[in-house]
Amino acid sequence: MKGVILAGGLGTRLFPLTKITNKHLLPVFDKPMIYYPIECLVSAGIDDIMIVTGGRFAGDFLSLLGNGKDFGLKGLNYAYQEGEGGIAEALGLAEHWAKGDDVVVVLGDNIIEKNIRRAIAKFRDQKKGAKILLKEVPDPERFGVATLAGDKVVRIVEKPQNPQSNKAVIGIYMYDGRVWEIIKTLKPSDRGELEITDVNNWYIQDGSMTYEVLDGWWTDAGTFKSLHSASTLVAQGGANKLD
Ligand code: G1P
Repeated sequence: MKGVILAGGLGTRLFPLTKITNKHLLPVFDKPMIYYPIECLVSAGIDDIMIVTGGRFAGDFLSLLGNGKDFGLKGLNYAYQEGEGGIAEALGLAEHWAKGDDVVVVLGDNIIEKNIRRAIAKFRDQKKGAKILLKEVPDPERFGVATLAGDKVVRIVEKPQNPQSNKAVIGIYMYDGRVWEIIKTLKPSDRGELEITDVNNWYIQDGSMTYEVLDGWWTDAGTFKSLHSASTLVAQGGANKLD
């Protein structure tokens, strides 16, 4: 299984901080933001990793991370996203590298307290399909929101005005090798992007989507408020902790 970290975008919600650097290079407590998704994958035993980035500061990822030695990696792979085509488009850039393997995808601004070892093991057991991770939040309208029926996810709505539940879809996704063909069928959303929520809804329709509710805290770090709370949470006890 391979790992893909999506670290593109203009980070407009963090202007002016992101006028002179990529959002994922900003500090979260004592490390650059991008360290956390890398550690998330490495702590789950994923050591074949691609970082997809973009924009004017893409070269800084190479200066900071090099071949990933600080994380015990032998190498890191990079891809460059031109423009603002969305999360699913960014993921599509990893196709030639993933070569049909299963992937675990982590959004570069998502940080978790614990680890995803167990979720990955369960995904391996299910043989095909996809898995998402959910977390109850007080502000679901900021995220993709899942509607559940029994042990199934029946729908995900991206940033709904009237959320049907308080279960946000966090930015860690597991997909089988069909994901690359699914991405090619997507049409841009109203915000002009290929949405990861549309990929997830495809697997729901296919009947092959499973979910886990995440243990421990989760935060994104893409707004001033969440960037601040991410730093506070990490300072209080660290991230990516092993059980
Ligand atoms: C993205 C996804 C959304 C998900 C969120 C998690 O939103 O589109 O479904 O809940 O990441 O951080 P973004 O924050 O990139 O707009």
